[in-house]
Amino acid sequence: MIRLLYCSKAKHEPNQETVDAILLASRKNNKTLGITGVLIHGGGMYMQVLEGHEHAVIRTYVKILEDKRHTDSRIIYITPVKDRLFNNWTMGVIEGDPLTFEDVAELRANRMESVHSDAFTRVMRKFSTILTHT
Ligand SMILES: Cc1cc2nc3c(=O)[nH]c(=O)nc-3n(C[C@H](O)[C@H](O)[C@H](O)COP(=O)(O)O)c2cc1C
Repeated sequence: MIRLLYCSKAKHEPNQETVDAILLASRKNNKTLGITGVLIHGGGMYMQVLEGHEHAVIRTYVKILEDKRHTDSRIIYITPVKDRLFNNWTMGVIEGDPLTFEDVAELRANRMESVHSDAFTRVMRKFSTILTHT
């Protein structure tokens, strides 16, 4: 399995209707493909974690890339994993500007070349903790 984190710019600040539409499609498709994860949105940005089998995650990411609701998507981190962090979420959602989360801005600024896997894991755990408390 792999876990992929990317962030992108929203074309328009997403309203509830847009987010609901994305979640509806995500939950339907991701369930079929065995993908779990979380979508964080706010401050004109999307950030999303996708985890699951390599082919399913890459195929889904490529499809998401073509979505006109956002632009400038870039992968921040991608890593092989043994376990899921978002087990119970075909797509969880967190409302908030990703950059206001501690560690995220740094993670994004450094990108893959210099991001330590511990920093990545820390941020992912934080997201999963937020989800289990909402
Ligand atoms: C920020 C963002 C995240 C998305 N995440 C997913 C996702 O996790 N899974 C998914 O199937 N579609 C996701 N989508 C929607 C896809 O781009 C696409 O519209 C959808 O998969 C089409 O579903 P359909 O083929 O069932 O009509 C996302 C779109 C955006 C803008």
